[in-house]
Amino acid sequence: MMATLYGVGIGPGDPELLTLKAARIVGAVPVVAYFCKAGRPGHARTIAAPHLNPAAAHLRLEYPFTIEVPVGDPRYLIEIGRFYDAAAEQVGAELDQGRDVAVICEGDPFFYGSFMYLYDRLRDRFPTEVIPGITGMGGCWTRAGSPITHGDDVLTVLPGTLGAEAMAARLAGADAAVIMKVGRNLPKIRAALQDAGLLTRAIYVERGTMADEAIRPLAAVEGDDAPYFALILVPGRQRPR
Ligand SMILES: C[S@@+](CC[C@H](N)C(=O)[O-])C[C@H]1O[C@@H](n2cnc3c(N)ncnc32)[C@H](O)[C@@H]1O
Repeated sequence: MMATLYGVGIGPGDPELLTLKAARIVGAVPVVAYFCKAGRPGHARTIAAPHLNPAAAHLRLEYPFTIEVPVGDPRYLIEIGRFYDAAAEQVGAELDQGRDVAVICEGDPFFYGSFMYLYDRLRDRFPTEVIPGITGMGGCWTRAGSPITHGDDVLTVLPGTLGAEAMAARLAGADAAVIMKVGRNLPKIRAALQDAGLLTRAIYVERGTMADEAIRPLAAVEGDDAPYFALILVPGRQRPR
């Protein structure tokens, strides 16, 4: 029997927001793998900790950089490609030894998740199963008490890393929006929302569903920087029915 690669969505942060299937798999596999920043415990590991098989080996897949090399820098694609090749080799070596590996992923693995780059490299070599997770944005709009789309509203989801012009163009005319990857992109996002006339509807959510979450109107957020786990919600307008 060949070992299986699992991509396991572990939800937005609250450890009770894992699916039963995710909890069963991470509680049983001999190897748990996760992407993380060098020297940090890893967000996914922290979220899933109460559910992990205590005897599992941990495979840390440490990013060579996070925000130090900008996405537009030609080095970025080359170096990040090499990193994912090496990570796939590490995970593949465990699978070759007959050990199932669960790659735990914040939110849903197929939604802006690094797991997808392992999936692309390994799915033809090993049996692979992906367990969907509650997305970060779903956790955030629930905690904010802000239904996001009504009726025929169209939801626009944008990464905060988009250029200012592209972001403004996508926001113009948007019914409802979610802007991910806020971090140091906060001033650009604020400006684009202001231009689109959406600033007054925008809600800032930091670490949604986690013990230290913070939720407030974006207009009340001071400063030009935000943590990694932050996103902006622009709820659709509730139309009378
Ligand atoms: C690389 S993406 C991963 C998204 C994830 N796969 C998902 O399904 O939500 C990371 C971004 O998701 C957003 N995010 C995920 N979970 C969040 C949470 N609990 N609170 C706020 N933002 C979150 C942040 O914008 C963060 O920069």
